Amino acid sequence: MPGGAVSPSGSVDARRLEAPVTVKTYLMCAFAAFGGIFFGYDSGYISGVLGMDYFITTFENLDKATTSTTAFVVPSWKKSLIVSILSAGTFFGALIAGDLADWFGRRTTVISGCFVFIIGVILQTASSSLGLLVAGRLIAGFGVGFVSAVIILYMSEIAPRKVRGAIVSGYQFCITIGLMLASCVDYATEHRTDSGSYRIPIALQMLWALILGTGLFFLPESPRYFIRKGNKEQAREVLARIRGQPADSEYIEMELNEIDANFQYEMTVIPDGGYFNSWFNCFRGSLFHPNSNLRRTILGTSLQMMQQWTGVNFVFYFGTTFFKQLGTIQNPFLLTMITTIVNVLSTPISFYAIEKVGRRPLLLWGALGMVICQFIVAIIGVTDGNNPKAVSAMIAFICIYIFFFASTWGPGAWVVIGEIFPLPIRSRGVALSTASNWLWNCIIAVITPYMTDADQGNLGAKVFFIWGSLCTCAFVYTYFLIPETKGLTLEQVDKMMEETTPRTSAGWKPHSTFAEEMGVTYSEKVIAAPTVAQVEV
Ligand code: BGC
Repeated sequence: MPGGAVSPSGSVDARRLEAPVTVKTYLMCAFAAFGGIFFGYDSGYISGVLGMDYFITTFENLDKATTSTTAFVVPSWKKSLIVSILSAGTFFGALIAGDLADWFGRRTTVISGCFVFIIGVILQTASSSLGLLVAGRLIAGFGVGFVSAVIILYMSEIAPRKVRGAIVSGYQFCITIGLMLASCVDYATEHRTDSGSYRIPIALQMLWALILGTGLFFLPESPRYFIRKGNKEQAREVLARIRGQPADSEYIEMELNEIDANFQYEMTVIPDGGYFNSWFNCFRGSLFHPNSNLRRTILGTSLQMMQQWTGVNFVFYFGTTFFKQLGTIQNPFLLTMITTIVNVLSTPISFYAIEKVGRRPLLLWGALGMVICQFIVAIIGVTDGNNPKAVSAMIAFICIYIFFFASTWGPGAWVVIGEIFPLPIRSRGVALSTASNWLWNCIIAVITPYMTDADQGNLGAKVFFIWGSLCTCAFVYTYFLIPETKGLTLEQVDKMMEETTPRTSAGWKPHSTFAEEMGVTYSEKVIAAPTVAQVEV
């Protein structure tokens, strides 16, 4: 098979379906990843704000001159409402976003998400009482929902297969930067004795939305959106822009034909049949068939549930109040900031590991690492929790736990949900999975204060027994259910999932293309195109 052009069966070598990755492609995807910043920032700023003196006195109607705020905390029900309402809005935002992404395009949906988000931020900034703050967070949540569901879809669809995992991990990296920026800004404004203490961290978020919304105007739409709309010529045009190749080049011809053939194939298996039917399609098939849509939807939604079950947001949302409770801590704000810095610094490890080691091992090792750290924190907490040295050890293990999360489950869950759905249900599948992330995020935000606050469940460090047990579930779950998708195009992932089980998936190799199966024939010029091996330097 000279040059890998035609296989013994006469088929076009599936490895040749790609153009070389250009700097421009990297830049486009990196810019889209910026959406993570306001996901992270928006969920992160609230932890510090809830502990700020000015915020507490204003929102609790206390006399600022005479009240010693160290004696006051925001009551559990308010804390849980303020934190969780964002995730509630995001849950519904993400659900709607799937439809919008198919009707109006991925890019347009993200741009509208930025707009909605800005409205929510304006309301929050103006607030000095609970009602407006909650309404603002709900509306901003819708915007974050649009962005968080659709950015993953968009990035997975435009990124070349070899770097798709790393690029989607870039989104997670931006989430961590957002969280860190939020805690730095909280740290900088917490002592202010005016409303700037909470208004500055809130208002700053508008900047991220403005940058993302404006930048996206200049990025192309996803070619898979146009294929879905039946507009192959426009798909060709945007694919050519994304890959940095002429629209009539063989690379574009082959990649486009494969996307199109895969879509045509999937449509024969899952016909669209109207709006409700297309939602129903996400739940079609047998629970016992590894490739059914139902199984993929359950896989995506449960994977995001598991990511939240790792308990990571306990640290990021309630870290400041938890560290305050440990008693011997001088500056809980500083500690929260340190955990967010560990989060940022550990995430880039995944850029390399997710492509080299693969999704499955990364999630397995990550779950194991988190289980060990969490049980250690819990055991130290119950045996020697008042000893300052023991508290330092607990904090060190919390940081190692964040390291494991950030380098594995943080990015891994987002990468996998962008890959496992076939095109006809992809936008809805990713939207449902993202909504599941926010639903569990919300549930955890609601119940955590009741589990840990001193006047409620007062679990203290024992709460880490719960997170440790849930991470054990995540380990077992990964072993049995997560397929290996590394190095495959989205269309090859579709085929791999048809032909393997999660535990045998890593050994699967592409052997035919959808274009072949759908009878696409190539001109001599295309067959003679250079192979990937030949163009790679
Ligand atoms: C999770 C967020 C979490 C963040 C921490 C994301 O992947 O979905 O809930 O706050 O990681 O870095």
